[in-house]
Amino acid sequence: MSAADGPAGIADDGPTGAPAGGAAADGAAPRTGMIWAQARGGVIGTAGTMPWHLPEDLKHFKRTTSGAPVVMGRRTWDSFPPRFRPLPGRTNIVVTRNDSFAADGALRASSLDEGLELARADLARRAADSAGESTEGSAPEAGDVVWVIGGGHVYAEAMAQADLLVVTEIDLEVDGDTHAPAIPEDFTQVEADPAGGWHEAASGLRYRVLTYSR
Ligand SMILES: NC(=O)c1ccc[n+]([C@@H]2O[C@H](COP(=O)([O-])OP(=O)(O)OC[C@H]3O[C@@H](n4cnc5c(N)ncnc54)[C@H](OP(=O)(O)O)[C@@H]3O)[C@@H](O)[C@H]2O)c1
Repeated sequence: MSAADGPAGIADDGPTGAPAGGAAADGAAPRTGMIWAQARGGVIGTAGTMPWHLPEDLKHFKRTTSGAPVVMGRRTWDSFPPRFRPLPGRTNIVVTRNDSFAADGALRASSLDEGLELARADLARRAADSAGESTEGSAPEAGDVVWVIGGGHVYAEAMAQADLLVVTEIDLEVDGDTHAPAIPEDFTQVEADPAGGWHEAASGLRYRVLTYSR
């Protein structure tokens, strides 16, 4: 995931990457994507953070989600170091049952469905804006994906609505208290990066990115 290379994990401050996809200017419904990184056994977090340091994955996260709305649980928002939130270049939507939640740079949603609706409306607005503007010198266009970016509770709840999963597998044995959701059988793996084997990070950690669709 992108960020700050900071110890808490997901927030990103790397260079802005490519947009997630072409603008949904044709009126097609946006896809609902989920993106996460997991160690062996599906561990995605421990004690409110991610128990590894993998800047390469943070850059991948930023590249994939830039220009799109991102929906997250309140605990995931809290896991970002304050200086790295909101995630730049994305509309940050935080799902919480706490009506008094307010944070600079974040939209509050009181349910997952409300969060996804806000995200789809944001994407449509971005597509309309970019259709009415010259692309020269403009910010990256919105993609045609709204991204759910965690954590464990929100991934589990959103799986029923997801049709795209981008999963970084990290070849690391580590304890954790938060796990990735099971991937339902009707998802098909459509891409592997690299096509075979693993990337090796500068730190020596091995990782690969698998994409699933349904
Ligand atoms: N490896 C990765 O890719 C990755 C990605 C993201 C996060 N993480 C890790 O995952 C952990 C956080 O995950 P988590 O499962 O503890 O928490 P979470 O899913 O981030 O957030 C849970 C919170 O979201 C709110 N929420 C969830 N469902 C809701 C609903 N239907 N309606 C309204 N509010 C709802 C509630 O907030 P309130 O309590 O405020 O009501 C709930 O306590 C951290 O360790 C983080 O580092 C890892």
